Amino acid sequence: SSKTYSEPFRPQFHFSPEKKWMNDPNGLLYYKGIYHLFYQYYPEDIVWGPMHWGHATSTDLIHWKHHKIALFPDKLGYIFSGSAVVDVNNTSGLGTLKNPALVAVYTYHNMDIEKAGGINAQSQGLAYSLDEGENWSKYQGNPIIENSDLKDFRDPNVFWNKETNTWNLILVSGDHAQFYTSKNLINWTLESEFGKGIGAHGGVWECPNLFKIKVENSIDEKWILLISVNPGAPNGGSGTQYFVGDFDGKNFKTDQKDTKWLDNGADNYAGVTYNDAPDNKRIFIGWMSNWLYARNTPTKNWRSAMTLPREISLSKINNNYVLKNAPVAQLKSQLEKGFSKNLLVLKPKQKTTFNYNNLNQSQIGFSADAKTLKLVFSNDVKDSLVLNYDGKQKTFSIDRRHSGNVNFEPNFGKSIHTTATPNIISETIDYQIILDWSSIEIFLNGGVYSFTEQIFPKKPFTKLTIQSDENQEIKNISIHKIKGIW
Ligand code: FRU
Repeated sequence: SSKTYSEPFRPQFHFSPEKKWMNDPNGLLYYKGIYHLFYQYYPEDIVWGPMHWGHATSTDLIHWKHHKIALFPDKLGYIFSGSAVVDVNNTSGLGTLKNPALVAVYTYHNMDIEKAGGINAQSQGLAYSLDEGENWSKYQGNPIIENSDLKDFRDPNVFWNKETNTWNLILVSGDHAQFYTSKNLINWTLESEFGKGIGAHGGVWECPNLFKIKVENSIDEKWILLISVNPGAPNGGSGTQYFVGDFDGKNFKTDQKDTKWLDNGADNYAGVTYNDAPDNKRIFIGWMSNWLYARNTPTKNWRSAMTLPREISLSKINNNYVLKNAPVAQLKSQLEKGFSKNLLVLKPKQKTTFNYNNLNQSQIGFSADAKTLKLVFSNDVKDSLVLNYDGKQKTFSIDRRHSGNVNFEPNFGKSIHTTATPNIISETIDYQIILDWSSIEIFLNGGVYSFTEQIFPKKPFTKLTIQSDENQEIKNISIHKIKGIW
């Protein structure tokens, strides 16, 4: 109800559970006009615990409806992250051609094994629904993939590969991903491994997601492998890297040398994309938190939210593949009538200030010269959030050290997060900045760079100050309030 959703810091247009703890998005599946969002959920507390799959649905990726818990822990273990598909051809025999089963493949984490000191606590399980996702039954023959003595062995990502007419499953095991095939979603064959010595390895690999995508302005297509890693991200703690390569149904190959990050803020983790989204779109949702301090954020009845759903695209900039992500177009329907101005000329050091009674539920958009530009959000209790594009160094930074409640955990407000932005090669930069009550999402040039961070200002920001130390032209600036959804 809207009463629940009016607590301090409660996101107004992002998905968050009504109450208690949430982490990763799971089982992102589009079926019969409905986007399903399952998620790691602990219904008893606002810290992580025995994992369930919570469930919500949406027809537009903006408005969400809560459903009852889909998957509960059982004697094989807690229900960790995984994915979901529609078994259209009834390859599993669990449904019928007329009423295909929705099939979820997830990780079991067995606490008895862990407590007894065993390393093989994780295995893969399957559950299915014959009523479009409302009620779920566990498969009798679980686990479907047993653990062969690997400590980390989790987060299966399943999809139908239409090039090979087979099911594919990717899971992660510590420092690498494993690739499997199956004809029936139940019996899986290990085909190959990828990842040792490639990419970021500051922590274990988690939440893989493999998909094919068109290269913009080209006839080429590439395969993208998303891999979350915790710890080891550029801002400390958790982050999501990606690899651009090729996949023949069994082996993933890349000649990528550098480590690429999907988002350069501190709070976008374990994100994956929808199976079967309409119009061939790749829609991404991430968990808007970081294991460094996820358990300590200053909310009372619930913890954490998802990123806005984002559309992913692949472009080539300076002969280098860049995975872009930007909010889905449906967000536009939530914008209230706002302020706009065609041209704002800034003289060096001159400040322009916009006053609002609440900027923590708004979108700010404009295009500026690719020169130094500083944006400061502030309020009358001296909270401030500072964004800075440095045109000479070509870096973008977020300073949330004084953004309000930052002392709930030492890492949260420790440093300024600075990212090199070599993929900004345009003379002007498009900025899209979206604030909710406890988050900011920033998109440069349509998602060539994205930055997602949690913030907990003591009161909403009421002022936006824009300044530069050079002459600057800001074009088409607009500020819109965003309608709440709860
Ligand atoms: C990622 C993760 C997954 C795991 C889940 C447990 O945040 O650690 O690897 O399946 O969370 O809740």
